[in-house]
Amino acid sequence: MKLTGIRSIEDLAKDGGLAGKRVFIRVDFNVPLDKKTGAITDDARIRESVPTIKYAVEAGAKVILASHMGRPKPGKREGLSLEPCGRRLAELTGYEVHLAEDCVGDAPKYVVQNLRAGQICLLENLRFHEEEEKDDENFARQLLELADVYVNDAFGAAHRAHASVHALPRMVRDRAAGYLLLKELRSLARIVDRPEKPYIAVLGGAKVSDKIDVVESLLNVVDALAIGGAMANTFLAAQGKKTEASRIEDDKLPLARTILEKARDRRVEVLLPVDVVVAPSLDAQSGQVVSVDAIPAGTMALDVGPKTVELFGKQIERAKTVFWNGPMGLFESKAFSSGTFEIARIMSRASGFTVVGGGDSASAVKLAGEDVAKGFDHISTGGGASLELVEGKKLPGVEALRSAEETA
Ligand code: 3PG
Repeated sequence: MKLTGIRSIEDLAKDGGLAGKRVFIRVDFNVPLDKKTGAITDDARIRESVPTIKYAVEAGAKVILASHMGRPKPGKREGLSLEPCGRRLAELTGYEVHLAEDCVGDAPKYVVQNLRAGQICLLENLRFHEEEEKDDENFARQLLELADVYVNDAFGAAHRAHASVHALPRMVRDRAAGYLLLKELRSLARIVDRPEKPYIAVLGGAKVSDKIDVVESLLNVVDALAIGGAMANTFLAAQGKKTEASRIEDDKLPLARTILEKARDRRVEVLLPVDVVVAPSLDAQSGQVVSVDAIPAGTMALDVGPKTVELFGKQIERAKTVFWNGPMGLFESKAFSSGTFEIARIMSRASGFTVVGGGDSASAVKLAGEDVAKGFDHISTGGGASLELVEGKKLPGVEALRSAEETA
């Protein structure tokens, strides 16, 4: 993954200066919110975009921030305002953050016109307009009315060909990547372009279907693939194990068998759980560790067991490169969190280059403790985006930043 033809925000400052300019920064403030209280439960995406925002403010720019939040249905806005993110940003930076009630039209223009030094304009949720997800050029042109300069710092949304990440930057001559985006691309390049061997990928999460593409491409590069979480049940069932009430994807059993065959042909070692923590239902308060050959009738696997952690752990410790995406079990529940947290601890102490690809596994690492999180080389802020990079795909949001000569 080459970064040729992509300028950084510092390059923009050197080339023409940012003072007095309207610097439109696309951030990804799509943070998880508590379902009951609406409070932000993980503010990493906001925190990580602070260096770029500060840089622009200190360079004397008028800063306009734009983001999406959730996936609003047409006409539905409830619970999807960026207002809590604006408040959090103000707390983190000490800047005054003014939320414009819309992202296009007169409202944001008015806020931007009246911005003073140290004040920031945060546009309301871009996805309140359906045109955003359609990569609509007219909508992008309306956003363009707010921008002299464009900066993308929204790694989490860089895999989306949406108006604010794709159509808009191509309309702005002075476009660049922010610090967060560059950090993500450089760290993930170490995994994508030149992974040091041995390389182990640890995949988990609910569904095989979500991970097919990444599994297919990882089989070409990894030495070992460890699979946990509910997706492991489908592989165990494909091997003929009796998974009882465990969640499996029946229609993906042939695919799981094909993946196992391909791995054998390519000499990739596939590690599957040897023991699991089972319980009668998802809301059980405790579980029982059993071998995968003796899952009791009426129970479902909700976490990996200690022998599995040891098995995966040995490979993680000897690896020079470790990529992790997807929890090992239902870690939100204390009774089924230990597999995920133990794997996080082992990775955080491992000597290889360790990367967590966003989403639930990144939240799990943080829940496992501050020390655990510090032990990782990189915790991505983009779940889908990091998976697409690891699959070898180009990200529309990154490509749109390249200079015209590079894209020609
Ligand atoms: C994410 O949370 O992965 C990004 O913010 C992208 O959101 P989306 O999957 O709704 O496009």
